[in-house]
Amino acid sequence: MNNVSELIKSHRSIRKYLDKEIEEDILMDILEAGRWAPSSSHLQAYHVIRIKDPEKRKVIAAYAGDQKYIESCKEFVIFCGDLSRIKHVCEEEDVKFDGAYLELFLIASIDASLVAQNVLTAAESHGLGGVYIGGIRNEIDKVDKLLQLPDFVVPLFGMCLGYPDQDPIKKPRLPMSIVYSEETYNEIDQDALDKYNDIVKSYYITRTKGKLNHNWSEYTSERLDGESRPHMLSYLKSKGFAIK
Ligand SMILES: Cc1cc2nc3c(=O)[nH]c(=O)nc-3n(C[C@H](O)[C@H](O)[C@H](O)COP(=O)(O)O)c2cc1C
Repeated sequence: MNNVSELIKSHRSIRKYLDKEIEEDILMDILEAGRWAPSSSHLQAYHVIRIKDPEKRKVIAAYAGDQKYIESCKEFVIFCGDLSRIKHVCEEEDVKFDGAYLELFLIASIDASLVAQNVLTAAESHGLGGVYIGGIRNEIDKVDKLLQLPDFVVPLFGMCLGYPDQDPIKKPRLPMSIVYSEETYNEIDQDALDKYNDIVKSYYITRTKGKLNHNWSEYTSERLDGESRPHMLSYLKSKGFAIK
């Protein structure tokens, strides 16, 4: 197995950080790795915003459901889907820009996600740890205003980075027999799912010293019981995205 693949498979989200700054050249190397992600039609429909101001971090942490590590991490960046510069170049080139296609929102979201995962992998290769913060979408319009985002730019998720001050065990993933098939989609392998549920249950018991003991199906169904940020559609429409 090669080193990159080993590195990727050693991933754990890190939410507690040493009081040690990330050297500027290392941070720039990591962000630069993001810039080299593949991009749909080479549109590069993303933008990354580094948030240094502690007051702003505090406000964002509160918006994201009081996730304190947004304040305590050494670097916090926000990944945006961005069609605004594509709109700009279309206008320069006298081409009518119509950013309302759902397809374009997907392109921007996928581009930003690929950039972000490059950033996290590069960070981990430098001995750093991090965690994605989708919680910023709890109050997406307030985050939008705080960052002064123009039309066609939306904050998708943040990322906390720093040198790890914790060494959590890896969270077990669904097995290949469930997530992978050949030629056509396969039916759920219930035996494998039952086994996975047992593994996840033991993982939570070990990691939380018995405070949590749910399995993956229980956790997942609980997570989906109710609405899922129903404000997203009207927000996206207000930014010019995703209406057809
Ligand atoms: C897009 C995205 C958003 C996430 N948002 C949050 C978040 O707001 N807060 C948090 O603590 N973890 C967040 N996570 C981290 C996941 O909970 C974590 O990746 C998952 O439970 C698997 O654990 P692991 O990364 O330690 O392997 C997010 C992950 C992704 C990919």
